[in-house]
Amino acid sequence: MDSDLVRMEVLNALYSSGNPLRIRKTKSSSSTGEAAKASCCPNFRVVFAIEALLDDYGGSISKMKFAIQGFGNVGSWAAKLIHERGGKIVAVSAITGVVENPNGIDIPALLKHEESTNSLKGFNGGDAMDPNNLLIHECDVLISCALGGVLIKDNVADVKAKFVIEAANHPTDPEADKILSKKGVVVLLDIYANAGGVTVSYFKWVQNIQGFMWDEEKVNHELEKYLRRTSHEIKAMCSTHGCNLRMGTFTLGVSRVARATLLRGWEA
Ligand SMILES: NC(=O)c1ccc[n+]([C@@H]2O[C@H](COP(=O)([O-])OP(=O)(O)OC[C@H]3O[C@@H](n4cnc5c(N)ncnc54)[C@H](O)[C@@H]3O)[C@@H](O)[C@H]2O)c1
Repeated sequence: MDSDLVRMEVLNALYSSGNPLRIRKTKSSSSTGEAAKASCCPNFRVVFAIEALLDDYGGSISKMKFAIQGFGNVGSWAAKLIHERGGKIVAVSAITGVVENPNGIDIPALLKHEESTNSLKGFNGGDAMDPNNLLIHECDVLISCALGGVLIKDNVADVKAKFVIEAANHPTDPEADKILSKKGVVVLLDIYANAGGVTVSYFKWVQNIQGFMWDEEKVNHELEKYLRRTSHEIKAMCSTHGCNLRMGTFTLGVSRVARATLLRGWEA
């Protein structure tokens, strides 16, 4: 390879991932799962979006009960940070088990238990329960952090939560969404609720271009600012068009892409 080609390969690798080249995935490290869960930087992404939503409804994390499906990278960080903010997590599930405790689960103890046993089973700070009941568990906020397509017409009529946070990609199917909407359940859409990950990737890209590294505090500050601003913009879109959060979020997203496309001269 000549030197120009080598340079192009290096730049491609650098800018396509947004990560500095030194941070390469190895066999023992992945962007999801256990390795990422043990990562040093708190993953505030979903929690910032939840805080912005609850603010709009006059609520706060510390006054709410949460049920969380999935205890991997997204779910375990959400649980840890909600617990630190005084939120009561009454049920948590993973493929390895389900724990419930109406008085609130001690999340640091559950994380320790999971780290040493690789399972949620056998945790003595709560009771085991049927995994099928997690989504319909008594709570104020249900956070789906596991899989797509889990909230379907067969189970959503029994959802007790007032807020559903789509931290997983596409957890709610369209029929289920209509039922939730009729029930008055507020659904925070995945393209906003879990957008913190790609927003931070954008920040990495920006820093790489500038050759300048932000500290963790600055990353979190910028992320919170973006998520709060977007939350207000979604709300404004909903009130302008008299629509629900899902339609407002899509309308905002599509209109931004359309505008950027026109501005860049990519019009057909
Ligand atoms: N990691 C990210 O940055 C990111 C960003 C945006 C969206 N997401 C989406 O969030 C979801 C979770 O991602 P992650 O990175 O935490 O994955 P992960 O693999 O780290 O964790 C998934 C968790 O879900 C649990 N799980 C799997 N099947 C289950 C089931 N049937 N019932 C209950 N729990 C079950 C697993 O045991 C595990 O605890 C995925 O839908 C992913 O696409 C992740």
